[in-house]
Formats: sequence, structure tokens, C-alpha cells
Amino acid sequence: MTVLLPACMIVNFERLPDREIDFVSDVKPILESRCLECHHSRYVFAGLNLETKKLAMKGGRSGPVIIPGEPHNSLFYKVLLLSVEHPVAMPPTPEKLAREHQQIIHDWILQGAKWPDGVRLVPPQDWKANRS
Ligand code: HEC
Repeated sequence: MTVLLPACMIVNFERLPDREIDFVSDVKPILESRCLECHHSRYVFAGLNLETKKLAMKGGRSGPVIIPGEPHNSLFYKVLLLSVEHPVAMPPTPEKLAREHQQIIHDWILQGAKWPDGVRLVPPQDWKANRS
């Protein structure tokens, strides 16, 4: 799927990241709270399962959605910037990700989308079960 972004968005985000993004402390909480609900083994919307690195990197019905080093070619990032009327705006609810969180996802992909081996994301539906 091709998603075109207005040039102004690309220019705004094309700057060197301020710091090294840490997957576990920076990225994982955003994805678990905002994305995993619909992209895990029991609700694999658009064929995209984000529970493990292997599945996330495999991508969804459009093929790979995370292109390490290339946020603007990564559907995973581009869908965050779409306005809510767009059918593939993510999350598909009116509450978009905070700009700061969009930037974290951008910088994480730009820095190579590092995801330490064995780190598994847990959908909110399972938080209680996992913590008790
Ligand atoms: C409430 C459920 C829900 C949540 C939460 C959600 N998604 Fe989705 N996602 C969907 C659905 C449904 C589609 C298919 C949309 C369509 O094209 O009709 C989709 C499609 C996608 C696609 C396109 C996959 C492909 O291969 O075409 C990407 C990328 C994606 N989502 C990323 C995310 C990210 C990143 C988040 C968190 C910021 C997220 N989603 C949160 C339901 C959700």
C-alpha cells in the first residue's frame, strides 16, 4: 500500500535524533498500550502481529512495514501521521499518538529498529493475567 505524506511532515521530522532510543523503556510501552490490542495473535488486524520481533519485521498484508533506517518508507511510522479520517490511520481511534511518541517511533526506526532478542510485547488484554 502506498501512503503519501505532505512534504511539510517529512521536513519536520527529518532531523538527527537527540538521543539513542531504547526499545524496552521507550518503544515497548507505547506499542503495548496503543497498538498491541489489535495486532497480536488473537486479533491480527491486517495480518500484522507485533508480539515478537520476527513477526513484526515480517509485516502485514502489505509486506514488511518496518524498514530499519528508513522511517519515511515504513508504513508502521507513516500510519501514525495520517489524519483520523484516513482508513489506515493508526491507532484507528480519534486519539492519535502524542507527537513526542511519534518522534520516538521515527527515531527508533531511523536508528535501525533495534529490538533485543527475546523481548515479547504483551497486549493490554493480558496485562492483568501476566501481573497477578
Ligand atoms: C483498535 C484496533 C487497532 C489498533 C489499536 C491499532 N491498529 Fe493498526 N490496524 C487495525 C486495522 C483494523 C487495520 C486495517 C486497516 C484497513 O486498512 O482497513 C490496521 C492496519 C495497520 C497497518 C497496515 C498493515 C499492512 O500490512 O497493511 C499498520 C502498519 C498498523 N495497523 C500499525 C499500527 C500501529 C503502529 C498501531 C499503534 C500505534 C496500531 N496499528 C494500532 C487495527 C488497529
